[in-house]
Amino acid sequence: MNTNRLSTEMQNALIKQMTKENHASQIFLSYGCWADTKGYGGIANFLYRHSQEERNHMIKFMRYILDRGGEAKVEAIPAPPENPQSLTDCFNKVFQHEVDNTTSIYDLVDLAFREKDWATWNFMQWFVKEQIEEEKLALELIDKLKIAGGDRATDESLFTLDKALEAAADEVSLPQEATADNPS
Ligand code: FEO
Repeated sequence: MNTNRLSTEMQNALIKQMTKENHASQIFLSYGCWADTKGYGGIANFLYRHSQEERNHMIKFMRYILDRGGEAKVEAIPAPPENPQSLTDCFNKVFQHEVDNTTSIYDLVDLAFREKDWATWNFMQWFVKEQIEEEKLALELIDKLKIAGGDRATDESLFTLDKALEAAADEVSLPQEATADNPS
């Protein structure tokens, strides 16, 4: 009796996503080390926390595959890319990684829809929502750095930005939570 509730194609796609989340975790860990080396302890802390979040995402995919009677697999991940050239480059790359990941998440939603695998479709909705948050978080990094002066920011404004990111929350509110009293 086949007790695996995932199609072979779906199981492989979910394993691929596990690997992608694990890779993202390594990339942000690597960027964190780069920021730490440059003296930006607060930004490094933010990136380390984000790295952990990506690892948590990997675990959610692993748990889901196993709970559906499938076979989860931990695959090799490529080495992280080269260090960023600057803080602007770093934050732009964080944003781009999130956008690329959103594309992968949408592909999984699309596959679930085509297979009429409503359990996976439902599971994936958490990630659709999560990507709105993650992209917003990355956009805020870019905005904060722009306000601080971008690559021409003074040491003082970078010091303030670094401190702010150390204390920055990992979660941001979703647009559907906004009200007239609290539009932000
Ligand atoms: Fe796991 Fe940043 O998405």
